[in-house]
Amino acid sequence: MKIAICPGSFDPPTSGHIDIIERASKIFDHLIVTVAINPAKTPLFTIEERVEMLKESTKHLPNVEIDSFQGLLVEYAKKRGAKVIVKGLRAITDFEYEFQMALINKKLAEDIETVFLMTKAEESFLSSSIVKELASLKGNVKGLVPENVEKKLLEKFNLKGR
Ligand code: PNS
Repeated sequence: MKIAICPGSFDPPTSGHIDIIERASKIFDHLIVTVAINPAKTPLFTIEERVEMLKESTKHLPNVEIDSFQGLLVEYAKKRGAKVIVKGLRAITDFEYEFQMALINKKLAEDIETVFLMTKAEESFLSSSIVKELASLKGNVKGLVPENVEKKLLEKFNLKGR
């Protein structure tokens, strides 16, 4: 059984994340999408909210599990029996950071491979940060995030009933 881990902050999950998760779920037998608990960051959504949003927006994918983790990703991957880390890659700007992460993870765990799926061209501009900024400025995020996430963003920024 080929188990892969798809880690991220998912603050919040975007349509780009869901696209990568859907495509990865077709490649691997079991895909664990895991939300990183990073005490150094101040996220908009709690871990529980992010896990819940991911569960709701991936409920059509039977081989996808949603979880969270704290600490080193490779340690979590080992614990879960995964040999592959899947990441989405958007543009050149993602490359340097992702390259560094892939190399440090390889250094830490020789037998774990990082694989990258290229984002859809039409979603290559999307990021959780831009979605949060747009929502905070009362911009329309329809289509940029799953519907349940859009609802949560509207609640967060008190834009109910727009
Ligand atoms: O969605 P993001 O913010 O790009 O996700 C980054 C994430 C969570 C995948 C990355 O920060 C991570 O793997 N964090 C866990 C800590 C770790 O293992 N770091 C690498 C070795 S220092």
